[in-house]
Amino acid sequence: MALRNVFNYPDEMLNKKSREVTAFDDRLWVLLDDMHETLTHNEGVGIAAVQLGILRRVIVIDLDEGDGAIELINPEIVQTKGTQREMEGCLSCPGLWGYVERPDYVKIRYMNRYGKEQFQEATDLLAIVFCHEIDHLNGIMFPDIADEMVDEAEAEAEMEKNPRRRRKMRRKKKKMKR
Ligand code: CO
Repeated sequence: MALRNVFNYPDEMLNKKSREVTAFDDRLWVLLDDMHETLTHNEGVGIAAVQLGILRRVIVIDLDEGDGAIELINPEIVQTKGTQREMEGCLSCPGLWGYVERPDYVKIRYMNRYGKEQFQEATDLLAIVFCHEIDHLNGIMFPDIADEMVDEAEAEAEMEKNPRRRRKMRRKKKKMKR
């Protein structure tokens, strides 16, 4: 396992579209392991391979809620319902925070690290993270789709107002970084 450097907004690397994974082999597994390590080191909740400069449709998510990390290969959103609007941040956007409208329910289809098709439903924070990370695979960065950006002081105040987010921020200060 190795820690890899994260590309930062507005590097044009982050606007590139990632390609489908076709080989579920050692090279993919090394990439996944490096993504786990880099995500944990940076205390984020999600990371896409493009953030490490690898244009493959690979995502690792870890909400730190005790149910382990999720690996998504070639994910696609197959169903959405409703909307929610929450403040987001990103591992590639240090110090940037902003509000993005997302579905409040998503169903995704993806492959696991062995190339087996899987489905997962998500609501609330996990639905946001699925959408945010899949956006990365399409070269879309949250500051470019946010309807309102806020400064760090406002972001901290917002986290203090929201008990769920406050609890999570205190636990590892990692909840807001995707
Ligand atoms: Co991000």
